[in-house]
Amino acid sequence: MYNFNNESLYKMKTVKVIRRERFNAAHRLFNPNWSDKKNEQTFGKCSNKNWHGHNYILFVTVEGSVDNQTGYVIDLKLLSGIIKKRIVDKMDHKNLNLEVDFMRDTITTAENIAIKIYEELESEIIATGNKLYSVKLYETENNFVEYYGK
Ligand code: NI
Repeated sequence: MYNFNNESLYKMKTVKVIRRERFNAAHRLFNPNWSDKKNEQTFGKCSNKNWHGHNYILFVTVEGSVDNQTGYVIDLKLLSGIIKKRIVDKMDHKNLNLEVDFMRDTITTAENIAIKIYEELESEIIATGNKLYSVKLYETENNFVEYYGK
């Protein structure tokens, strides 16, 4: 049986809650400080001038204590809504180099996209009383990155 009155004991239990979202986007790896030749040597076909796309899969992990009234760390509808508003609506079916405000002046590698997504989400997650633990981003089935905010 749950002891709903023993809040202090219950509050000590932290759980990580993970929401998966998806978005499709175009990009090109390109360093504007380099010649076309150096970009091509470094990034290969990922630097194709006419862009290419990925079906990105995003995992957002929130860590917090379990609320003794709801049994939730965070309502997943709320978490999904935050990710949709701050990330998916801005990135899905977009060109990441040209159309996403928070990706401006950034080389659109999976590493940098994960960092930027983390930075976009962090304050909203903190406002729910929880911690943004990590952002994991799959660029392909075999290539993915994780960022823990440091
Ligand atoms: Ni790519």
